[in-house]
Amino acid sequence: MKINENTLLDGHKVVLVPYNAEHVPRYHEWMKSPELQQLTASEPLTLEQEYDMQRSWREESDKCTFIILDKQQWADTSVEEEQCMVGDVNLFLTDPTDLSLAELEVMIAEPSYRGKGIGKEVTRMMMCYGVTKLGIQKFQAKIGLDNQVSISMFKKLHFQQVSVCHVFREVTLELTVDEPVRMRLLDDMAFMKERDYRQTCSNRQELVSQ
Ligand SMILES: CC(C)(COP(=O)(O)OP(=O)(O)OC[C@H]1O[C@@H](n2cnc3c(N)ncnc32)[C@H](O)[C@@H]1OP(=O)(O)O)[C@@H](O)C(=O)NCCC(=O)NCCS
Repeated sequence: MKINENTLLDGHKVVLVPYNAEHVPRYHEWMKSPELQQLTASEPLTLEQEYDMQRSWREESDKCTFIILDKQQWADTSVEEEQCMVGDVNLFLTDPTDLSLAELEVMIAEPSYRGKGIGKEVTRMMMCYGVTKLGIQKFQAKIGLDNQVSISMFKKLHFQQVSVCHVFREVTLELTVDEPVRMRLLDDMAFMKERDYRQTCSNRQELVSQ
């Protein structure tokens, strides 16, 4: 999607930035992990295919993605952005006849960053962006039956299990954004700021001094 090509979402522990070509080598390294391939139901890609994928995420209007950066680390201008990468978060508009429905995916690729509240923070940030900027009214998450951590996280975020597919060994959870859900989300995420990515890149240190 073009809409977020210069958007930075500023959270407590993380910032979300558009997925750029400079992120691809690290992303490609992550996706060589059999554990991540299994947990995210992904096929390994060549580096060239990964660059094509990055371009398609940027160009195609049914996909919105952000790279998750460690905010504290990124605020240190001596650290390369690629070194601050923690994972990614995506929205897919899966039904061309209903642009208010989005499938949500999150990956904290760096194991040392898991279990620290980052998955929950990022998921809520993306939901808030989806609701306010893309008009999403229903979120879906498709998760491997064995991925109890992810299932538990989405249930904590008030998603309800709607179906189980034993053939693909996955569950589908959903959250409809009615008015109380919307109000709670906006309230919980009142700290999140939307900024100009390129401008913030040149003043990174200011993010943690505000
Ligand atoms: C699933 C994932 C996104 C969760 O993110 P995270 O940052 O590790 O999770 P958080 O610390 O924000 O915790 C969120 C919830 O997940 C659950 N959780 C986290 N770690 C857990 C663990 N070790 N065991 C059981 N549940 C756990 C809890 O319900 C937790 O809520 P709580 O803190 O209120 O108890 C992350 O672990 C991940 O990306 N894993 C690898 C890829 C993956 O599985 N992606 C999802 C594909 S659908």
